[in-house]
Amino acid sequence: MVNKAIVASLLVGAAMAVPYPPSIDLGPTGPVLDTVDFSPKKPNGGNYMPSKSTNAPVSRTVDAPALGDKLEARATGEKVTNGVARFDNSNILDGVGNGVDSYTMYWGDGSTGAGWPAQSRWVSFQNMFDNYKNQMFAACANLPTPQPNDSGPEVGAIWDGIQQAAAATGVDHRLILAVIMQESHGCVRVHTTNGGVRNPGLMQDHNGSATCNENGRVQNPCPSATIYQMISEGTAGTSSGDGLANCINQSGRNDVSAFYRAARIYNSGSISSTGQLQNGIATHCYASDIANRLTGWVNAPNGCNCDNNPGSCGITTN
Ligand SMILES: *[C@@H]1O[C@H](CO)[C@@H](O)[C@H](O)[C@H]1NC(C)=O
Ligand SMILES: *[C@@H]1O[C@H](CO)[C@@H](O)[C@H](O)[C@H]1NC(C)=O
Ligand SMILES: *[C@@H]1O[C@H](CO)[C@@H](O)[C@H](O)[C@H]1NC(C)=O
Repeated sequence: MVNKAIVASLLVGAAMAVPYPPSIDLGPTGPVLDTVDFSPKKPNGGNYMPSKSTNAPVSRTVDAPALGDKLEARATGEKVTNGVARFDNSNILDGVGNGVDSYTMYWGDGSTGAGWPAQSRWVSFQNMFDNYKNQMFAACANLPTPQPNDSGPEVGAIWDGIQQAAAATGVDHRLILAVIMQESHGCVRVHTTNGGVRNPGLMQDHNGSATCNENGRVQNPCPSATIYQMISEGTAGTSSGDGLANCINQSGRNDVSAFYRAARIYNSGSISSTGQLQNGIATHCYASDIANRLTGWVNAPNGCNCDNNPGSCGITTN
């Protein structure tokens, strides 16, 4: 778990350069057993997910309101503009299945040459979602101010929202899911944090408008439209800041390191001048955590100590 005091001191020291505060790190504290009752099932789908998205980008969650509160339409239309763009995310069996639930510490620039995992080692979206959904169902209870856990339809709307945002932006759906788990563990009622910039919603995005928990106003159920917009704002960006799509573009790479570098940029707004993804501000383990999530890490202990003991990792913050 991230040592908040250390992160906070780094943030103060680098206040001008910090668009994003550290992620919420209060997910389930141990393995979550598979005890969730997923009935009733969605038409054409198992377990609320996958909801069988075909080539049509949006499969709306029928059992939740089609439209929630009126939301300011602010998400902007970022798209991935480099060679890793992927607009057809309808293949949900697109990786190595479950992958391996273990944690490997990755250092360096995000390249396979530096030991980071190739995309051929990534899990399949369906497996990844299924393996994380129990954390999603348990996450809200672990917030500093606990909230009711996600319901089945809310978790279904996360699946649908990811598929919709992926189709619109060209961001690989697995990266979106990894960032959701990193930022909120999938709790739709995660609170809006504010370290100078508001970070609302599932992806704790840059000053977006979709949230189901801000200023003491908690929505239960969290409307599907709001859940979709949270994911859109984190992926396609907001009028205030970039989503994952532009972060990938800004990575300046066309290989798998584009994703790991984008994760670093999403968390801290930039890559350290050293080019090493553990360095710089905000959460040092962020890019390594994302790489591990993409290869199957779910419940194994986090093997990164760079946030609770930056000295042990030789972290530099510039
Ligand atoms: C949330 O889920 C966790 C794990 O299943 C459970 O222990 C907890 O009681 C739930 N909280 C509520 C408020 O339902
Ligand atoms: C956040 O959005 C609001 C409303 O659009 C805007 O007034 C404010 O300046 C934005 N804040 C930042 C830090 O971008
Ligand atoms: C992509 O990022 C580069 C900077 O790395 C920038 O010059 C270019 O305008 C960006 N393209 C889009 C479409 O945002």
